[in-house]
Amino acid sequence: MNARNGRVVGWGTYLPEKVLTNFDLEKQLDTSDEWIVQRSGIRERRIAGPGDTTSSMATQASRAALDKAGLAPTDLDLIIIASSSPDHLIPPVSSQVQYLLGAVDVPAVTLSTGCTGFVYGLSTAYHFIAAGAYRTILVVGVEIITRHLNWQDRSTCVLFGDGAGAFILQATDEPCGLRGFVLGSDGSLSHHIIIPAGGTAEPPSLEALAEGRQYIYMNGPEVFKFASRVLGRSSRQALEQAGLTLEDVDWIIPHQANLRIIQAAARDLELPLSRFIITIDRYGNTSAASIPLAWVDGLESGRIKPDDTLLLVSFGAGLTWGALVLQMAPA
Ligand SMILES: CC(C)(COP(=O)(O)OP(=O)(O)OC[C@H]1O[C@@H](n2cnc3c(N)ncnc32)[C@H](O)[C@@H]1OP(=O)(O)O)[C@@H](O)C(=O)NCCC(=O)NCCS
Repeated sequence: MNARNGRVVGWGTYLPEKVLTNFDLEKQLDTSDEWIVQRSGIRERRIAGPGDTTSSMATQASRAALDKAGLAPTDLDLIIIASSSPDHLIPPVSSQVQYLLGAVDVPAVTLSTGCTGFVYGLSTAYHFIAAGAYRTILVVGVEIITRHLNWQDRSTCVLFGDGAGAFILQATDEPCGLRGFVLGSDGSLSHHIIIPAGGTAEPPSLEALAEGRQYIYMNGPEVFKFASRVLGRSSRQALEQAGLTLEDVDWIIPHQANLRIIQAAARDLELPLSRFIITIDRYGNTSAASIPLAWVDGLESGRIKPDDTLLLVSFGAGLTWGALVLQMAPA
């Protein structure tokens, strides 16, 4: 097998129907549209409905991607699901998606690195292709993070939303694919984004429930400082590895956590905000789904074109970070 570059052959999304606006939140919390827009850039977000599960959302986005690629589920060689909000702790949600898709016996793995999950997953997929191990790989970023939110905690619940974005890579010898990457993790900062109870460190208990320790706790200002530093730094490292500069990049697709974090990265990289794909106003922070949703937005709006060079850059729970420099295939 000689073809070692990864070509994007399909993509798809699933967004729950229910839209929750800042004005809706004003009615149930001590917050305001003005505060949320000024401090985060978010205007509305999608909320999974009673019929949605993480696996069902991932499956719908994946079916759309397979249709676009003209592939059958059994054409897949590997399924990678990036998520921090799986259906269950056991079994892995990836096997449920594989089953729902009808991708009989296809290997499937769940990868959990917080909001950086899709970047880790995509980089893994490119490397499997580069090694000649697999030809056709599905990578999905999917979250129903809103089911882990404390809707009384205004400092977190206004920020997140649900969604799924799927991409299919296929081996090719055309000039495209992964040009440079950097991945990182600093577990000494793990306490800044955490669901304290429900795992083995603190199993579910009535006390934990009474204290709301099953919900996401986030130290917003500390994460903000970390993100503002790491986005620019990892972008530069990935570009250096690719032997490229920012001038070679057509679009930056950053993790959509807060518009002010994206603005800080733009200042750090000395780039205008118009070079960034931004969806945070419509979807909020969809964690591992945020980059694939923004990437699809860039493709379907016609902004991202064949041959374009993209910089995907993310950070998240862990704390983790990652940046990929990619080249879209020629037309
Ligand atoms: C969470 C975040 C938006 C808060 O913005 P901030 O400017 O840092 O605001 P602070 O947390 O310092 O809070 C400022 C004030 O606003 C208040 N506040 C917090 N949430 C509020 C809300 N939804 N509505 C109104 N007021 C709010 C706080 O209580 C605080 O009030 P005080 O000064 O009287 O104590 C921001 O820190 C952030 O986005 N951090 C990064 C989070 C992130 O990226 N997470 C994803 C990781 S993948």
